[in-house]
Amino acid sequence: MGMERASLGTRAIRKAQRVSLRFRERVTNVPIRLANRGLPLPPSQLIYLVAGTNDLTWFLNSGAQAASSIRDALSRNGYDINQTGAILDFGCGVGRTLRHWGDLADVNVCGTDYNPDLVWWSRTKLTFADVRLNGLTGRVDWSDQTFGLIYALSVFTHLTEDVGFAWIDELSRVLRPGGLLLITTHGDYYAGGLPATLREAYERGEAVVHLPGREGTNDCATFHPPAYVRAKLTRGLEVVEHVPEGALGNPRQDLWLLRKPG
Ligand SMILES: C[S@@+](CC[C@H](N)C(=O)[O-])C[C@H]1O[C@@H](n2cnc3c(N)ncnc32)[C@H](O)[C@@H]1O
Repeated sequence: MGMERASLGTRAIRKAQRVSLRFRERVTNVPIRLANRGLPLPPSQLIYLVAGTNDLTWFLNSGAQAASSIRDALSRNGYDINQTGAILDFGCGVGRTLRHWGDLADVNVCGTDYNPDLVWWSRTKLTFADVRLNGLTGRVDWSDQTFGLIYALSVFTHLTEDVGFAWIDELSRVLRPGGLLLITTHGDYYAGGLPATLREAYERGEAVVHLPGREGTNDCATFHPPAYVRAKLTRGLEVVEHVPEGALGNPRQDLWLLRKPG
């Protein structure tokens, strides 16, 4: 998601663009009223900023699909989203997924992002959620062990290696022991389309970052080999589940469900 704005000129990026378009065609068949929950709709320029499209129907329906995909990943592994404790959407954007948690009873729903415009919109319009601002690096604005579930959809796909490590450590800080972290990555689906030098690095098990100077924006695209995620990115978290291309609502991204020991 969001990669359609990149002008890499590589086959991997063009493939991501085609996937994204096909994906949008599929989800836009769902009637808009099913996915909207009577909540305010973000302005199209903010939708474009996070999604690389200003297609409102896609925004609503893919968000609903992403929320279902999180619920399903939890229940496949014996967890109930109503019972996990407080939830944090890291890199929440304009609440594409967050907006679908308004009916969770007795669950503290929170979001955070480094972009102040997105945070302002989400905080003032999705008032059931506690939405705060963080920096590109650093800390989130909650104390240790606050959350039972944190998810980051299409966020590590736009971060460089060291910043990715630092955020896994920071999100682990605010997870309670036994808490879950769900992240998405660009995995093997894209490997064949990378330019030769990047593909070789990817196949050696290295993370590959396109346009690291644009980190945090959708122009920066990061590709994580699964072996690299297991050996390095998880930083001491346990892998509960890895589903290649399993992050529904985020086209062709791998889903990783991780657990903080204890
Ligand atoms: C492709 S968008 C996805 C937005 C949202 N997760 C979704 O699925 O609709 C990437 C999001 O990550 C946010 N982001 C990027 N770097 C971040 C960082 N260091 N901390 C928090 N948010 C970040 C961006 O501002 C943007 O909202």
